[in-house]
Amino acid sequence: MEFIPVCEPFLNGNELDYVNDCIKTGWISSAGKYVKAFEESFASYCGTKYAVGVCNGTVALHLALSALDIKKGDEVIIPNFTMIASAFAVCYTGATPVFVDADSETWNINVKKIEEKISDKTKAIMPVSIFGHPCDMEQIWALAKKYNLKIIEDAAESHGAEYKGQKTGNLADITAFSFFANKNLTTGEGGMVVTNDETLYKKCLYFKNVCFSLEAPRNYIHNDIGFNYRISNIHSAIGLAQVEKANEYRDLRIRNANLYRKYLEGVSGVSFQKTRYDVLNVHWMNGILINPQTYGKTRDQLIVKLKSNNIDTRLFFVGMNEQPALAKYGCNISGNYPVTKILTENGFYLPSGSNLSEKTIQNICDIIRNFQ
Ligand SMILES: Cc1ncc(COP(=O)(O)O)c(C=O)c1O
Repeated sequence: MEFIPVCEPFLNGNELDYVNDCIKTGWISSAGKYVKAFEESFASYCGTKYAVGVCNGTVALHLALSALDIKKGDEVIIPNFTMIASAFAVCYTGATPVFVDADSETWNINVKKIEEKISDKTKAIMPVSIFGHPCDMEQIWALAKKYNLKIIEDAAESHGAEYKGQKTGNLADITAFSFFANKNLTTGEGGMVVTNDETLYKKCLYFKNVCFSLEAPRNYIHNDIGFNYRISNIHSAIGLAQVEKANEYRDLRIRNANLYRKYLEGVSGVSFQKTRYDVLNVHWMNGILINPQTYGKTRDQLIVKLKSNNIDTRLFFVGMNEQPALAKYGCNISGNYPVTKILTENGFYLPSGSNLSEKTIQNICDIIRNFQ
């Protein structure tokens, strides 16, 4: 069997034409026309008023937190089961991330366990739409209102997802996306902050460009410490072409998820992320959990089997409470996170790129089924 990567970018629209245009015209830095065009088209896709392009999803989160004035001494509640960038972005501000275990069905932050982690230092909640599944936002909105907290959505994995009919980007005060190569929409490396709040938008524009004044002529006097988080015209050119096909790319990922569920139906000991009835899950990655008692083999044995058939996989994230970097930083890593533990010990992703054929997915599933 030919090598099946865990994910490949899918670039079958105007990407090459737009990139050629950047090269031919010499507009390769962040000053070209594609930056604005990408921002406007992505804002329009999300149905938000404003979007600010940046160079990756991690800095998009940091910029969003900075715009909300999150700083040293503050606490931000994040899921324990997430990619490390969610926590690191909080650390960059000097604030402390506080962890909440995952929900056993959606694998998102367990909203029932957030309130017990709120202290007088808590300033914000950062829900993460794990694998493309938005969180139960009504519960989070209620807590934010009760305790006067801000909400930053880490939507790195959930372009175009919906919660109760509302698109990601409109579920929080401010939202951060990643356009890394494996994402449903990609620019290779890239990110975006979106918001409906003009003040937050202007702060993002200001901080992302080393705090050059947004109004005054460029006199090289800087009143605040800013960042260079600019995205290039070339990356934005790819992004614009991707957004033009956003629904097509989203639907290919959803199709993958449906095919995996179809071809693995009835295989005991294999389970998937459960999608709530009121969300549109955009299925960035197809994660599965292996129960070794009922499947008869461990997750790691299955990964070796798939590898011997040239099928690439990835382990799930390891919980934030297990991260030496966060312990050293001063996060409280004590306490039990039983759901994260199950996910980390038994979960992995199957190939999930938008260009997979049905036959390939069927073959992968046959190997999993027959290995039992
Ligand atoms: C949940 C989550 N947050 C943040 C990021 C960071 O995005 P980037 O890799 O573009 O910096 C990722 C990237 O994979 C992610 O999955």
